[in-house]
Amino acid sequence: MAMRPSIIWTALLLPVLFLADSLLALQPPATCQQKCGSVDMHFPFGIGDGCFLPGFEIECTTGGTPILAGNNNTLAVLNLTVMPRPEAEVMLPIAYNCYNTTSGTSLDWFYGSVGISPAYRISNTSNELIVLGCNTFAYTNSGPGNTNLYSFYTGCVAYCDGEGRAEDGACAGIGCCRVDIPPGLTDNTMTFFASYTASTFFGYTHTNLTYSPCDYAFIVKKNTYDFRVSDLKMDTKTTKPLVLDWAIRNIEDGNKTCAEVKNKPGYACVSDNSECLDSYNSEGYICNCTSGFWGNPYLTGEGGCQDINECDDKWKPYYPCKGVCHNKVGSYGCDCPSGQKAHDDNAYENVCASKFPVEARIALGISLGVFVLIVALLLAFIMLQKRKLDKLFEKNGGEMLKNVNGLSIFTKDVLKKITKDNAEFLGNGSFGNVYKGTLPDNTMVAVKASIKVDEATKEEFVDEVEIQTQMIHKNILKLVGCCLEVEVPVLVYEFAANGSLQDILHRKKDQVLPLDSRLDIAIGSAEGLKYMHSYATHAMRHGDVKPDNILLDDKLTPKIADFGLSKLLKEEYYAKVVVGCMGYIDPVFMKTGLLTQKSDVYSFGAVLLELITGKKNVYDEKLSLIIEYRKVYEKERSGRAMFDNDITTEEDISVLEEMGKLAMDCLKEDLEDRPDMTEVAEQLVMIRRNKKFGKSNNTNPDNIGDITIYNSPTNAEVVSGPTRANISAKVTPSNMDILPSP
Ligand SMILES: *[C@@H]1O[C@H](CO)[C@@H](O)[C@H](O)[C@H]1NC(C)=O
Ligand SMILES: *[C@@H]1O[C@H](CO)[C@@H](O)[C@H](O)[C@H]1NC(C)=O
Ligand SMILES: *[C@@H]1O[C@H](CO)[C@@H](O)[C@H](O)[C@H]1NC(C)=O
Ligand SMILES: *[C@@H]1O[C@H](CO)[C@@H](O)[C@H](O)[C@H]1NC(C)=O
Ligand SMILES: *[C@@H]1O[C@H](CO)[C@@H](O)[C@H](O)[C@H]1NC(C)=O
Ligand SMILES: *[C@@H]1O[C@H](CO)[C@@H](O)[C@H](O)[C@H]1NC(C)=O
Ligand SMILES: *[C@@H]1O[C@H](CO)[C@@H](O)[C@H](O)[C@H]1NC(C)=O
Repeated sequence: MAMRPSIIWTALLLPVLFLADSLLALQPPATCQQKCGSVDMHFPFGIGDGCFLPGFEIECTTGGTPILAGNNNTLAVLNLTVMPRPEAEVMLPIAYNCYNTTSGTSLDWFYGSVGISPAYRISNTSNELIVLGCNTFAYTNSGPGNTNLYSFYTGCVAYCDGEGRAEDGACAGIGCCRVDIPPGLTDNTMTFFASYTASTFFGYTHTNLTYSPCDYAFIVKKNTYDFRVSDLKMDTKTTKPLVLDWAIRNIEDGNKTCAEVKNKPGYACVSDNSECLDSYNSEGYICNCTSGFWGNPYLTGEGGCQDINECDDKWKPYYPCKGVCHNKVGSYGCDCPSGQKAHDDNAYENVCASKFPVEARIALGISLGVFVLIVALLLAFIMLQKRKLDKLFEKNGGEMLKNVNGLSIFTKDVLKKITKDNAEFLGNGSFGNVYKGTLPDNTMVAVKASIKVDEATKEEFVDEVEIQTQMIHKNILKLVGCCLEVEVPVLVYEFAANGSLQDILHRKKDQVLPLDSRLDIAIGSAEGLKYMHSYATHAMRHGDVKPDNILLDDKLTPKIADFGLSKLLKEEYYAKVVVGCMGYIDPVFMKTGLLTQKSDVYSFGAVLLELITGKKNVYDEKLSLIIEYRKVYEKERSGRAMFDNDITTEEDISVLEEMGKLAMDCLKEDLEDRPDMTEVAEQLVMIRRNKKFGKSNNTNPDNIGDITIYNSPTNAEVVSGPTRANISAKVTPSNMDILPSP
């Protein structure tokens, strides 16, 4: 018959527990045996004096098997665990009752009482009760109660209605039954309802049950027992694994809760970062490391609770982090690398992904790519343009011209600004349109295309531009600069506000140009041509003298334009131009093809005729002014009949006649008979002087016409030279004395 477990424990353990208070604070010395067989010792368990807390002694047999000390029966230890749950796994002998199947009386029995230390409770969560037999009812009971009563009972009935009815693997009442157990079980003691005591009454007889002669009952670790029919006749010495919960309990002092023991002498939770928990299986308390720490909470120092490096691989499975893990004392952090983000900002659970969604990245990537492409194309285009411009610049002699003094070289862009993108059209030049422009310093300029330059003509073009730049005379249209970054070089000249002599003489008929002005224009033009013809080292000639090429500024000062370059023209093109201006072409040049300075004299003669007659070179559709005038002149020794009525007065008739005579000289067939430009200029000046001072007065050897007086507001500044006054002062005897004495 079973003994009452509670009585057994009290008797057995009282002496040990008396010592408990003084021993509880004990720390095991380093010399304690760490292992027995394959089982590691963890304090409060230990082998040998001073190595364990009371109730937790382990004996190590000579064969190297750890057993729970202080029990009548040998309980071999399989496992001792402190963290995370305080558990001990042991091998427990099964309870049984075997019968004489003839007489039905009990032959042999063991009811399973082992007298476990009160530190242990049978784990209700990890174990189950199994009962085997074919006419068997077994139960266990526990807890405090009256003499025959316990606080709980649990058990089950196993039955077979014949041999062979039980099946392997089926534990549902036929030969085998199983049932959960309540918490707080302190023992494995079983009660079997057997035939020998009340067989007739209860009927749990094994008479004639030769295939199941015994009742078996045992508490076993869950999911480890698999029923076999052969177990109905199993060895009664069989042991089964059992999980025990353990806790620090002190029966003498009654139930101990954390509240009662905390920080009192003997308190077992001595490790830093440890905490006290009330036992979850019956009374007493357990120690645990606080969250984030791991180790043995019953030990101080290094063996105690230590910070868990949650980022370490061995811990990773328990402490998830899908981002970047950083360990902290007692905890850890987990976040995403910069530029990334986890869903809900929870990198513990969710993977980090780039802050930009893939679509945005793709979109960004594409737009960046497109942008880069556009920039690259743009750069390529700009470079191509630049190369094109550089090539043109080079083709048009830029390398040579950029060193020419006084010549500005404009880029295409600057030129565009100067002409405001060809906003103001001035007229047709010999080679293309002429546009008005304004330099950055507000000087007005005329911008016109030059001629197309190629390798063959480049050098000559450069020469001409250079010469033009160097020709500085008030009666020669000044070349200010050029732009070479264009197919056809563009030349920038000073601006002549009153257009050409052609315009003023023949087109604007409403304004009559007075004789004085005509004379001044004739003199100025002659001066310009004279300067050109006498230009050092070069036998310069204009080649295309005509009213179109004599420009007039705002003061009607004539400026010879469009010279030099014409001779660069290709033969046929030149011929075309020549045809158009046939009336001015020297017939000698026409015959010989030889252009001389006297050819310019001839053309100038034609211009003189226009000035005095006011008629065009070819007038009335087909009449040649030169031929008609010559006819009249040869007949009457005067061109009087042809003079411009608007300016013909009796007193000026001699002036006109003299000019006419000079023109006739210029237009002579024989080159030798023609005066040169110097003579022409001198004679014109003489004519003007005679006009001013009376016909007979020809005594002054000095050429007053060459003396120019500038009237400045502050003082009269006198400049002598081949230039004429912008504002010609009226030279009278009264102001003559400010002139330098000759
Ligand atoms: C255990 O042993 C003690 C003494 O050796 C004895 O008094 C007690 O009855 C035994 N208990 C069991 C369950 O065998
Ligand atoms: C002992 O317990 C630990 C933790 O519960 C477990 O990992 C180990 O496998 C067990 N050892 C044995 C022999 O049962
Ligand atoms: C069983 O009981 C019968 C009848 O009483 C007896 O003859 C026999 O010896 C017993 N067997 C054993 C093993 O005790
Ligand atoms: C074990 O006992 C505890 C405490 O009474 C209870 O919470 C738990 O549900 C029980 N487990 C089982 C499997 O019965
Ligand atoms: C056991 O078997 C014997 C012989 O077959 C029979 O006489 C007896 O009644 C049986 N006993 C029981 C309890 O069935
Ligand atoms: C231990 O706790 C249980 C449940 O609270 C209670 O019934 C029992 O009396 C307590 N025992 C002692 C000795 O205090
Ligand atoms: C002890 O602490 C560990 C880690 O914090 C935890 O997993 C475990 O559940 C705790 N044990 C008990 C019995 O509360």
